[in-house]
Amino acid sequence: MNVLEGKGITKRYHQQNITVDALRGVDFRLEDGEILGLAGESGSGKSTLLKQIAGLETPTSGTILLHGKELGCRRTKEEFRAMQMIFQNAPASFNPRRTIADSISESVRSLRGRDAKIDEAALADLVGLPEELMQRYPRQLSGGQCQRMAIARAMAVHPEILLCDEITSALDVSSQAQILRLLADICRDSHTSAIFVSHDLAVIRCLCDRVMVMKDGALVEEGKVEQVIHSPREEYTKKLVDSVLQI
Ligand SMILES: Nc1ncnc2c1ncn2[C@@H]1O[C@H](COP(=O)(O)OP(=O)(O)O)[C@@H](O)[C@H]1O
Ligand SMILES: [Mg+2]
Repeated sequence: MNVLEGKGITKRYHQQNITVDALRGVDFRLEDGEILGLAGESGSGKSTLLKQIAGLETPTSGTILLHGKELGCRRTKEEFRAMQMIFQNAPASFNPRRTIADSISESVRSLRGRDAKIDEAALADLVGLPEELMQRYPRQLSGGQCQRMAIARAMAVHPEILLCDEITSALDVSSQAQILRLLADICRDSHTSAIFVSHDLAVIRCLCDRVMVMKDGALVEEGKVEQVIHSPREEYTKKLVDSVLQI
């Protein structure tokens, strides 16, 4: 069963006199409970695809279906709630003048109503941090702690899908591994699906069963991660795989 589907998604940006076709007809499906990898070199359109899915931008054409229902260009709060995006730069995704708890509360109230409350202890516990850190400001946390709090903020609204955009790319190797484990546990325990974007196939391999590979705004390959790594069909994927195996 597919929780999310995209059909023929295109995105054309106009910048001064230049047009950029960032997405050129992308079809995808996300299965219920799955963590789907999305790989591709910088500029291939990964972030653009996530922004269209999250409703942060409107595709130039194409349709996105959540549980088989087409999403309009004006999303309802419920539809925004269902899909939560987590960004690479977690510290910058929080308001520097507010405590983490206040930022999370604000996000929850905007989607679930003014009276909605958060359970700070439960959220801190979910992401493996002491509850006291909820009262800190973003600058008082490490990059890894901040990324955990960004995951807590996303999970606070009980989304169905997490959209993760290079969420470990700014972290050192050991924090990276911890965040990957945390994300895998959370998705499994809460039955949340996810699209996990990374330029790094090695990271995707740790976390995902299935991967899609993008190049120049189009999907060039899709399949089981092990199959794609061991017998890539496209020359482009071979290059991505080689860059992984060198490390
Ligand atoms: N707001 C924008 N205006 C103009 N061009 C953009 C905009 N956002 C992205 N692009 C362009 O779209 C292409 C895909 O970008 P992006 O989705 O960020 O790639 P990736 O996340 O795979 O690195 C790039 O050529 C980028 O320069
Ligand atoms: Mg990107």
